[in-house]
Formats: sequence, structure tokens, C-alpha cells
Amino acid sequence: MTQMQPLTARDVRVIAHRGASHEHPEHTLAAYRQAIADGADALECDVRLTADHQLVCVHDRRVERTSDGRGVVSAMTYEELSALDFGGWRGEQHRGAPVLLFEDLLKEALAADRPVGLAVETKHPTRAGGRLEAELVRVLKDHGLADGSAGLVEVMSFSRNALTRLNRLAPGLPAVYLIERRLRPVRPPFAGHAGPGIDLVRKDPGLVARLRAKGLRVRVWTVDEPEDVELCLRLGVDTLITNRPREVREYLHSL
Ligand code: G3P
Ligand code: CA
Repeated sequence: MTQMQPLTARDVRVIAHRGASHEHPEHTLAAYRQAIADGADALECDVRLTADHQLVCVHDRRVERTSDGRGVVSAMTYEELSALDFGGWRGEQHRGAPVLLFEDLLKEALAADRPVGLAVETKHPTRAGGRLEAELVRVLKDHGLADGSAGLVEVMSFSRNALTRLNRLAPGLPAVYLIERRLRPVRPPFAGHAGPGIDLVRKDPGLVARLRAKGLRVRVWTVDEPEDVELCLRLGVDTLITNRPREVREYLHSL
């Protein structure tokens, strides 16, 4: 069982959810550069596979909410996605932001002047029949990051099947089991971390202690408000996933 040490506010890890996405359009290079500048320990990104098997950072199944295009990401090629504007929906100043390739995000994190991690969430992996995980591990291998030894990359999913597949392909990568509503049995090494949403934690604060008692480390998403940061700290959460990395980091330092 993992040793659980009491945490101080400054020990808590801050992960930027889709980048500094309160300020910038989510999953854009600008959002991630801001998150790095804001002191985020790691960058969260959702990955999907395009029709031509490229991994792109897009949350939704379809592109309508976050771009000026129409269509399903998995049915579009990378070239088709590259013709769309993924910034203008958040205002004129963001217009022209292109879709972000996962590998370009990885290079950006590696180029930072301090260690910046990546928390990669696989989206709708079942439909891709394992190809998404295979491509993710291939890209990570190309950068020497698939064995987990650099301590920079974690994989997250709501899908236990996806985590199991990832564990087979890359057993050294830390895995985070995301929990939206219902807790299904989970244990290391299948996943060493659990990630409940803040709504669930507010409703059932005892959940964090139950997860910790199983030896799991606990991270909570999406924690943007000071009262939620305080609740998570009281409960022993060790990692916060937030749209506002600078504010959360500053708040933690002020405690
Ligand atoms: O970090 C976990 C969180 O991102 C899961 O929810 O919908 O924002 O991907 P979602
Ligand atoms: Ca996500």
C-alpha cells in the first residue's frame, strides 16, 4: 500500500485542465503555454484519434463547440481539422488557433525550463478498438517516455478497459481511474490513482478517505474555487486539476 503522508498546501500538485482554459481556448498551444508560465506542475489534455490515426487534443466527440467547423473528430483527417479555427469561439483575440497535435504538446512540455508533466486522458477509447492507446504509447516511446521512468506522463481514463490496455502496453506509466458518478472496484496496479469529480466529492466527502484507504492517491477535477481547494486539502487530496492554475497555485501559497 502506498505510504500516505500528510500534505501541506504547498505540496499539492496543480494540473492545468485543458491548459489555462479559463483564460484561453481549451487545448490550444496558447492555453498550455500560459499554464506553464503560471507554474502548473502538469498539463491535462484529452486525446482523440483522427480518421488518419493522428492523436489530437480535443475534448468533444464533435468539433462544433470549440471550432468553426462541423463534424466528428474521428471521421476527419488531421488536414481537415487543421483548416478549422479552434480559438475564435473564445473571442477575436484568440482567432486562428489551430488544432493541437498531441505530439506537439508533448514537445512543448519537454521544452519547458523546468519539469512539466502531462496527464493524458483517452476519450472514447472503446470505439477506436485499442488503436488510440497503441498510438499514444508509440508517440511516448518515440520520446523515451513510455516506461514512466522520467516521471512526466500519466494516463487517465473513465474507461477501465482503456487503462487495462494501456497497462499491458506500457506497465510503467502511472494510471488514473477517473470517476464521474459511480465508484467501480479499482486497485493498483490497474490504477494507482483515482480521480473523482468535485461534484461527487462535495456530495460524498467520505469518498476521498475510502479511496485513500485502498492505497489510491486521489486527484480531483475540476477545482477552480477557493472553497473547493480548501475542501480538497481537508480531505487529503494530493492533486488538483483546475482551469485556473495561476489562481489555485497562488491560493495554495497564501495558506
Ligand atoms: O481531468 C479529468 C477531467 O478532465 C474529466 O472530465 O470532461 O473535463 O474530460 P472532462
Ligand atoms: Ca479531460
